[in-house]
Amino acid sequence: MRAPVALEHAYRLINHGPVTLVSAAHGDKSNLMTVAWCMALDFTPPKLAIVLSQESHTRSLVDGSGELVVQVPPRRMLDVVDAVGNCSGARVDKWARFGLAPAKAARVQAPLVEGCTAWLECRVLPKPELADELDLFVCEVLAAWADDEAFAEGRWREDLPEPLRALHHVAGGSYLVDGKQVRARRL
Ligand SMILES: Cc1cc2nc3c(=O)[nH]c(=O)nc-3n(C[C@H](O)[C@H](O)[C@H](O)COP(=O)(O)O)c2cc1C
Repeated sequence: MRAPVALEHAYRLINHGPVTLVSAAHGDKSNLMTVAWCMALDFTPPKLAIVLSQESHTRSLVDGSGELVVQVPPRRMLDVVDAVGNCSGARVDKWARFGLAPAKAARVQAPLVEGCTAWLECRVLPKPELADELDLFVCEVLAAWADDEAFAEGRWREDLPEPLRALHHVAGGSYLVDGKQVRARRL
């Protein structure tokens, strides 16, 4: 079940560097794309840095609305994650083509993608220097959610079954699945 995540723990949803899906909406259009270059930037208020290519259809919706949702898709969505990152919403309706269901977000117009394990609703902050040159977006997280089967009490569960584990992009159509979590001893 989707459960709220305290904003001070929002960074933990992507701290392990998973491949993400970024969704956006503007006017009557919505879309999503696969994004590997997304990282946490700050704890409170939580902020993210994201690279969105100028050629992507999703980027045009983000530019128009100033909002987006970053979500963490699990292993069970691997084929969809790869497919969503290899075609454009300018030409296909990715929701219909890949059987994806949008859900209403709490703070932004951009839809949440059902089936993911974490969601971060964001607004785009004013562009820092070099942002245009680097296709860089700095966003503030306004609301965060996680599937409580995968993330609870501010942490990813340590015993996650493989279908619920996050993906990491290697290259081309190759990905790694999250491995075993280990805890450091305090020295
Ligand atoms: C695994 C993977 C990671 C990707 N990471 C990024 C990224 O970090 N930034 C980006 O602009 N595009 C990235 N892409 C490419 C976009 O997802 C791709 O251009 C997509 O077709 C854009 O869709 P759209 O035109 O519907 O928005 C990635 C693609 C894949 C498959």
